[in-house]
Amino acid sequence: MRNFQINILLYIKDGHGDFMKLAFYDSGVGGLSVLLPLIKEYKNIDFIYLGDNKYFPYGEKSLSFLRHRAIEVAEFFNEKKADLLIVACNTISASALDVLKTNFQGKVYGIIDCGVIGALRQTNNNKIGLIATNRTIEEGVYQKMIHQSGDYQIFEKPCPKIIELIESGQMRSPKMRDCITHDIGEFKEFDIDTLILGCTHFPLIKEEIQKEISEIQLIDPADCLIEKLKENLEDSGSGTLDISYTKEEKEFTRLINSKISRELNLNKVNIG
Ligand code: DGL
Repeated sequence: MRNFQINILLYIKDGHGDFMKLAFYDSGVGGLSVLLPLIKEYKNIDFIYLGDNKYFPYGEKSLSFLRHRAIEVAEFFNEKKADLLIVACNTISASALDVLKTNFQGKVYGIIDCGVIGALRQTNNNKIGLIATNRTIEEGVYQKMIHQSGDYQIFEKPCPKIIELIESGQMRSPKMRDCITHDIGEFKEFDIDTLILGCTHFPLIKEEIQKEISEIQLIDPADCLIEKLKENLEDSGSGTLDISYTKEEKEFTRLINSKISRELNLNKVNIG
């Protein structure tokens, strides 16, 4: 099952110094929504990103598969000598955060508590919506954390089709518009004032979602995660971005390349 041979190394800047190696883990391209804002601010840190696209969608995998995969991914990041592991993926955070904490050599950050904090800060009527993968909804971690924090009502909906369309680059397609109208539009019937984007893929189409439900505040858990991370980051290293993925797929590399080249100014690009 193990297969991490594909790699892109990007040099953000030419620098030297003590290393701070920050690892990001997602099932695909979604974790870029957490990674990119940090790269823009911390030019010296060495970033490692793993998109485990061979096993996308994680949301349709069994709990035991994901927990087993998490051990292999922790080993991968240990070999890369990462200092911190940011589990950008909600599905893995909901299913195997404890596994990663046991098996990774450094500190591990999950994303779900951040989505919960964001939603609790914003809601006024205590009615919160949640969109996520089937696995995240089923594991119930978001729901449990919110209920433990007080008297809140939660309206949840798995949206696997939207996630798959994003991963395959069909972000602005007619199919996507239909899915948004159908899956997201449904939230207008409930009296929620806040919706948690409980999958890293959703922030990549935040504007389209917002258009459908203009009255509802969208919560990107990455915002709070980034705030939390900043307390522990030191801008030191040689300023590299090392992107690994587990299946050769044109659409995956196209998406990664277009997003990164649009958002970052790079000195040098190595693919191999
Ligand atoms: N991006 C992942 C998440 O945040 C899951 C998408 C998938 O692999 O199904 O949950």
